[in-house]
Amino acid sequence: MICFSPKDNAFLLSGKQYSYCMYVNGAGFLQHLYYGKKLVPEDIPVLIAAHGKASEPNLNDRDMDMYTSDMPSECGSFGRGDFRSATVIVGREDGAAMSSFRYVSHLIVKGALALPGMPCARRADESLIITLRDSCSDTQVDLNYSVSEDSDILVRSLTVRNVGKQTYEIKKAFSFCTDFPDTCGTYSAMRLSGAWARERAPVTAPLAEGTLRIESTRGYSSHQMNPFLALLSEGCQEESGECYGFALLYSGSFAITAEVTHNRYIRVQGGINDYLFGWQLKGGESFSTPQAALCYSSEGLGGMSRAYHDFFRAYIIDPKRARMRRPVVINNWEATYFDFDNENLFAIIDEAAKLGIDTFVLDDGWFGKRDNDTAGLGDWFVNENKLKGGLKAVIGRCKQNGLKFGLWFEPEMVSEDSNLFRAHPDWAIAKAGVSPCRSRSQLVLDFTRKEVVDYIFEAVSKVLSENDISYVKWDKNRDITENFSASLPQDRQGEFLHRYTLGFYDLAQRLTSAFPNVLFEGCAGGGGRFDGGALYYFPQIWTSDDTDGLERTKIQWGTSMCYPLSSMSCHVSACPNHQTHRTTPFATRGAVASLGATGYELDLTKLSDEEKEQVKAQINNYKRIDELVLKGDLYRLSDPFKGNYFCEMVVSKDKREAYLVGERFRGDPCDHNRVLKLQGLSEDKTYYIEELRLAASGAALMGAGVLYPRLADCGSWTWHIREKDNV
Ligand code: DGJ
Repeated sequence: MICFSPKDNAFLLSGKQYSYCMYVNGAGFLQHLYYGKKLVPEDIPVLIAAHGKASEPNLNDRDMDMYTSDMPSECGSFGRGDFRSATVIVGREDGAAMSSFRYVSHLIVKGALALPGMPCARRADESLIITLRDSCSDTQVDLNYSVSEDSDILVRSLTVRNVGKQTYEIKKAFSFCTDFPDTCGTYSAMRLSGAWARERAPVTAPLAEGTLRIESTRGYSSHQMNPFLALLSEGCQEESGECYGFALLYSGSFAITAEVTHNRYIRVQGGINDYLFGWQLKGGESFSTPQAALCYSSEGLGGMSRAYHDFFRAYIIDPKRARMRRPVVINNWEATYFDFDNENLFAIIDEAAKLGIDTFVLDDGWFGKRDNDTAGLGDWFVNENKLKGGLKAVIGRCKQNGLKFGLWFEPEMVSEDSNLFRAHPDWAIAKAGVSPCRSRSQLVLDFTRKEVVDYIFEAVSKVLSENDISYVKWDKNRDITENFSASLPQDRQGEFLHRYTLGFYDLAQRLTSAFPNVLFEGCAGGGGRFDGGALYYFPQIWTSDDTDGLERTKIQWGTSMCYPLSSMSCHVSACPNHQTHRTTPFATRGAVASLGATGYELDLTKLSDEEKEQVKAQINNYKRIDELVLKGDLYRLSDPFKGNYFCEMVVSKDKREAYLVGERFRGDPCDHNRVLKLQGLSEDKTYYIEELRLAASGAALMGAGVLYPRLADCGSWTWHIREKDNV
């Protein structure tokens, strides 16, 4: 609900359990008042009295701009007395850059706001557009807010408009700014940082005076830092206390900052990375930022995560694909790497069919001259020397076995040893006179150029339309360097990285629309582009190249802080694990991989008979619980970063059914009689835990708990929990 109170000049925005309030203060600034538990419009005067008047500049002072540095603002100004970092900075032709935004008008509309060319919330109940005018230039800023009754996510973005005649350069345009007026420095910030094969580990540290800046400068959201930050109030725990989430629906270079001022107020804001960013805005033009998804939770981190999971599943992921039952896949990458032919692929396919697998995914190496990673990218036609009879032969074998077929692409890349590069060397990102940085022996295509995106669209479309393909794995295996496009003029090079991201979105939009029945899985050298923007096109994303039965619990735990289990692609791979060299039980790898879109990534023909029986059992188990995993509420019970256990459970929305997966890392003789308290059940219902043959009330399972199983190193357990009359 969006309520405007003309008497108070205030806006109260409310979702399922939160409210967000701001007002136009006496000086005409849009001042932030409140973000927290749900309130009613009658509460507005209290908010103004508590948080408004005290921070409002003195109207009688002609230098009032100078008093805005403590004023909680919805859009930070620059060069006019607000000395915190600005939200929008606009440069003039003469080099001046200063702004002071004041309220002009507002509009409340039904539904969501479209964001052409970028991912955005597909629906909303209502949206609010507040127009501010810069008193120092001919620019306006529209602040956009969208809310829905059934969601705890507030969607924000902004649009900068040039309403004058001269050309401006936007030097910074973040998507949101939220000031916390009453925090006095008692908050911590949690970021999801990592590396290749160690993505999205939660790192929490107290905020202190100064600025915490998390960012990517790599041209995509990155393995190293996810475009998500949470602000935790003192005492916030997994299931209690207050916290706020800030997630960007953006896949390019980003920044999110949490700035604690001299008076220990906090300003959180984020959007497109402003480092060397610039965007020219001619008279009459406008520029829209990506959206950000903000969340308030009074039920700790778990409450925040569940709100995000519901949001991504219902508002971002394509509804048709979100509802698709995810196929259990066998992917040949770790089974064969580049070394495959009809014979070894067919053997895997034949075996997959016997074990109950749904889809065979042919990974890297099927095209061009791609026998290793130095050649072939960009040549999206099958290598018939390697695959006799081409893709049709492999697909035919799949069909004979009742399997569907999926295929790997890396559409944004080119190898110098490729026909594409030989024909169009200028299509790769490079700067004449500078030797390009090569990574994995490949270059990045210049997706700021429409003709490049058009070509790749045609090439990939040709393969998809000529073959019966139900699944695409869309990979991306390097960072962007030499940020420069020969097709952009000198004064527009600051637009390069964002334009690249828009090119990626353009291709993703066109391909996913042209092939509506294909399930597109995102991937970037593992989980390097796992963000809310990518989820708009890819309902699931390869979470990490690290499929080790222990490390994966951490990666999936961290990823779930913001992203739903349905978005995590999780596979069982061979041991010793190719990344960590660790050996974990087959059952554990299966249990951990069941907490997402599951599959296998190994040579099925090399499994023992016992392991094959385990695969069959794992798939049977998965088909019982996949709806729960993909649609249920997640409760994180034991933090793998903190103790000897990992444990998570998913509970159906009606609380009649749950599925729990646990792992004990070390078989420790002194670590016994530990109690595991379940969560998310209904206290009044009686449940039956199938594997324990135990019936107990929800109150007992959550209040008293059950013993953790005593298991050897990396031993795991799975429990199916049903309401007793649902058994
Ligand atoms: C990186 C991906 O994460 C892997 O799963 C695999 O597809 C390779 N790329 C192929 O080059």
